[in-house]
Amino acid sequence: MIGRNDACWCGSGKKWKKCHFPQEGKPKPAPTTKNLKSLYEKNYDILLKTPEQIAGIRRACHLSSDILMETCKRAVAGVTTQELNDFAHKLHLDAGAIPAALHYGEPPFPKSICLSLNEVICHGIADTKTVLKEGDILNIDVASILDGYYGDCSMMVCVGAVSPEKQRVVDVAYECLMRSIAILKPGVLVSAVGEAIESYATGHGCSVVHQFVGHGVGVYFHEGPQVPHCYNEVGIPLVPGMTFTIEPMINAGVREGVIDSKDKWTARTKDGKPSAQWEHTILITEEGHEILTSWKR
Ligand code: MF3
Ligand code: CO
Repeated sequence: MIGRNDACWCGSGKKWKKCHFPQEGKPKPAPTTKNLKSLYEKNYDILLKTPEQIAGIRRACHLSSDILMETCKRAVAGVTTQELNDFAHKLHLDAGAIPAALHYGEPPFPKSICLSLNEVICHGIADTKTVLKEGDILNIDVASILDGYYGDCSMMVCVGAVSPEKQRVVDVAYECLMRSIAILKPGVLVSAVGEAIESYATGHGCSVVHQFVGHGVGVYFHEGPQVPHCYNEVGIPLVPGMTFTIEPMINAGVREGVIDSKDKWTARTKDGKPSAQWEHTILITEEGHEILTSWKR
């Protein structure tokens, strides 16, 4: 395990504490729907959260998990994706929270949560025409801002009985997430996450999406470090106080995805085969890790 006075992992020759050691809790701006855009435009590095920040992030994560689980219960045949979006949106407002996806990015994401059906890898956009039907698999991704802190999580829902191919990709994606979480503790490198995921996925006949990564989260929506879900060489050691997501996107067919040229968000598998994703927000602790998002499969 790397110590504060050891050489930095980046190869600069400087001590870790004088180089890439994460900064402790920067002053926390309070995001409102008005100043979100300027916040997102800045390029933030890895933050080590203070105990106060961790308490706030934990609350945000519990809220996003509660909203996610309630929304999953409503994802049954006959319901439109727009109805699920509006339900989750209202739960945020009732809790005094902001859905983090709404107006995020460029072009601004138009909905409050992401709803990604069957061959959609991620960032699916709800509409009134898409009605859930038996045999569908759906990823519901809920990110919430509560008292200025962020939580981010997602689950899969199977609508009735689904094909063996869909069931497999859903189950493999879940195993990938939980196996990669199980190894997390201080000193483990970020690259170990992708190794745990890609070795399991390819060993079970699935592929791993490279285009999208897990990410630091908590004080901002997307912070450093980026956490690839595939084999990689990110030599950043985990440190107590880091909070980040792991959100592997696993495909039944090829790993390549195509982003919708009209909406600029919806990512679909290139071969049209199904894709699945589960996401937790994790805290690194002295002893190992804590799963901050409290949803249970
Ligand atoms: N968990 C997803 C992510 O981190 C949430 C995306 S919300 C969106 O990318 F607004 F960016 F679509
Ligand atoms: Co995320």
